[in-house]
This record gives sequence, C-alpha cells and structure tokens, in this order.
Amino acid sequence: MGTPLVSNCSSDLTPGIALVGVGPGDPSLLTLRAVQKIEQSTLVAYPVSRLDREGMAANIASTWISNEKKRLPLLFPMVKEVESLKQAWIDASDQLADAVFNGERVVFLCQGDVSLFASSSYVLLGLKARYPECPVELVPGVTAISAAAAAAAWPLTIQQDQLLVLPTPDDSKTLEILLADAFRWKRVIALMKLGHRWTWVKPLLARKNLLDDALFAQKVGWPDQKIIKAIDLDETVQSYFSLLLIRQSWPEIIP
Ligand SMILES: C[S@@+](CC[C@H](N)C(=O)[O-])C[C@H]1O[C@@H](n2cnc3c(N)ncnc32)[C@H](O)[C@@H]1O
Repeated sequence: MGTPLVSNCSSDLTPGIALVGVGPGDPSLLTLRAVQKIEQSTLVAYPVSRLDREGMAANIASTWISNEKKRLPLLFPMVKEVESLKQAWIDASDQLADAVFNGERVVFLCQGDVSLFASSSYVLLGLKARYPECPVELVPGVTAISAAAAAAAWPLTIQQDQLLVLPTPDDSKTLEILLADAFRWKRVIALMKLGHRWTWVKPLLARKNLLDDALFAQKVGWPDQKIIKAIDLDETVQSYFSLLLIRQSWPEIIP
C-alpha cells in the first residue's frame, strides 16, 4: 500500500490540523464532521482579508465557536502581487504548524469546499512542503456552485452533460471561445469570481442570445442571497461572492 497523500488524524483528540469547509453562507450546510471538528478543536483559525475583519468563514461557523476557544485570524490579502501572496501563505502555514507543535487541535475554516479555489489549499500545500510531519485532515464542504444550483432548483448536470468550473476570464474573447466549445460539447459552465466582470459579461451574453440560459447567484446562503435569471440583472459591478451558471441546451430525453 502506498503512503497516504495526507495523514489522517487517527484520534480526534490528538494535536493536528483539520481544514474544514463551512457554508457557503448558511451555517446549517456544515457537515456533522465539520461541526465535530470545530467542537473538538482548541484553536479556530480562519482567513481574513484584513486583520480588523472577522472573516466570512468564521462568521458562518460562529454558532459552534464557543467563547473560550482560542482564535487565530490569518491574513490572506486580496492582492495580486506574487511575493506578498507567497509570504502570506508561508506565514499562515508557519503559524498553524507552530500551534500544532504546541499541542493545539486546530481547525482552519474555509468557505464552501476545502479543495475548490480554496484558501485552505494554500495552507495544505504550505504545510506539506514545510511541515510534512504535521497531521492534516480535510473535511469537505458544500461548494457555492452546488448551493446555488440547489437554491434555484436548477439541475447542474445530467446524462452526458459536461461541467466546466472556472474563474471568469478577464477578456471577452476567451469567454466567447469557451461558450462556443460549451455549446458543441453540451457543457454547462460555472463562472466563479464574476464580480466586476459582469459589466462586460452581460453585454456579451446578450449579443450571443444567452441571457435566458444563464442563472446568476450572489451570496448564496446569506440573508441577502440573490438568485435570479441573468436577463433580470443590471450590468453593474456585482459582489465578489457571485457566480453564473450557463446551460445552453438540455438532453433530448428528460421528463
Ligand atoms: C475563492 S472562491 C471559493 C470557492 C469555495 N471554496 C467553494 O467551494 O464554493 C470564491 C468564489 O466562489 C464563489 N462563491 C463563494 N461563496 C459564494 C456564495 N455564498 N454565493 C455565490 N458565490 C459564492 C464566487 O464566485 C467567489 O468569487
């Protein structure tokens, strides 16, 4: 048998770190395992874009974070500059490993699933590279895509459908090519990180006559969740926490 990719915390009460998916948005979407890991932890870590902010993942899980629990906000700045990003990931891994080596049972909270465009993946890669002996467990969560499809009662994929999940490209030419390929291959597209790009995505979809085929989802699971047909949404800048599902065709045989 080969070496496992990540070590499994054999006992839940030994020091180690669990990367735990929460939400998205709605705290009732946490898995039983996620709640168990938070309750058994001695220290709760979570990403923040600024140290004076609470962070969305911590907010979602707040019901299960008791007052006596130690907290560790970790800075994941929303910048593109490579050196700052790398340093932030290294700092986060160092602080988490330090806590584990000091006997803490750590959870690192992450919005949605821990493996899909997730801050927890930088922590995982940082720990693997720098502290391979540190026990790590991953607790999967509900992705924003699944939560959006469920909230809209919108089948994501069936039969031979393909699914392409990607960050919204930065230029319209790339999106045009993706849309043409998706039409050819009966591929549903999930565009993450839509935010400010909606100002040019909407006119492009309008030109291609695809607005009726697209569903917009913003802040799914939060009290101000918005799920509407793309055609009904103004072409103004949207929240970073928004995504678009585009289905250009349905299988021939459906109920
Ligand atoms: C860094 S990714 C995190 C994805 C997350 N790990 C998941 O499993 O869904 C951030 C992107 O996910 C999407 N997203 C995350 N939470 C969302 C929510 N509550 N509602 C709508 N989209 C969301 C947005 O497209 C956002 O730009």
